[in-house]
Amino acid sequence: MLSIKNLNVHYGVIHALKDISLEVNEGEIVTLIGANGAGKTTTLRTISGLNKATSGEISLEGKDITNIAPPQRVKMGISQVPEGRRIFPEMSVLENLELGAFLRNDKAEIKKDIEKIYNRFPILGNRKRQTAGTLSGGEQQMLAMGRALMSRPRILLLDEPSMGLAPLLVREIFNIIKDINNTGTTILLVEQNASMALSIASRAYVIETGAIVISGTGEELAKSNEIQKAYLGGE
Ligand SMILES: Nc1ncnc2c1ncn2[C@@H]1O[C@H](COP(=O)(O)OP(=O)(O)OP(=O)(O)O)[C@@H](O)[C@H]1O
Ligand SMILES: [Mg+2]
Repeated sequence: MLSIKNLNVHYGVIHALKDISLEVNEGEIVTLIGANGAGKTTTLRTISGLNKATSGEISLEGKDITNIAPPQRVKMGISQVPEGRRIFPEMSVLENLELGAFLRNDKAEIKKDIEKIYNRFPILGNRKRQTAGTLSGGEQQMLAMGRALMSRPRILLLDEPSMGLAPLLVREIFNIIKDINNTGTTILLVEQNASMALSIASRAYVIETGAIVISGTGEELAKSNEIQKAYLGGE
């Protein structure tokens, strides 16, 4: 569904992504794990079009999107939940969700989708008039995910959804991710929480200083000694 071939990205002289290639097939949860500064966010932002590729190709369902503008990519079915949530703090929960549908003009369907989001995240329904900045970290993560779903993505890009959340909430967020996937949305999940990410992913890639160094099934990587040592706190 999503295919990245020999992608390079630079920030000035910094070579942030070095010839990375990866695939996400329809219906999968694929995770990209790696340490701080490895290039995870850069990868997602380049897929969304927020960062420019220096070379290489990104394609969605066989269509080359490497040079297409970000809103067009949203229309084609790519939606990103950014690192740190980035909700609009002064706006209400409802207004944040409506903004997620800014490229749509099917008003009645938008309304139905907002109700679906409230079903998936009841806390958001209870707080629809509350300003988003007053939500807890976990609630803001749910709002960011809800907002991203409002564009009806075929593939959802999640950038460290578990960041800063208590273990119980992390588990809840991961259950929601699985559920979103089960209802037909393909997922590319970036995480530092490798053990949780590997437990729900069908396949995984490990990125180190801008290069993909290991890939395999979630199960294979969870068992790998190298991964245990570097990312799972094992010996
Ligand atoms: N706007 C920028 N200008 C210059 N360098 C940048 C910029 N954004 C990222 N970088 C550099 O690119 C590299 C990859 O950064 P990136 O944010 O993709 O890492 P990451 O894997 O998401 O890290 P983290 O887990 O901390 O979020 C880092 O060395 C970073 O310093
Ligand atoms: Mg990041």
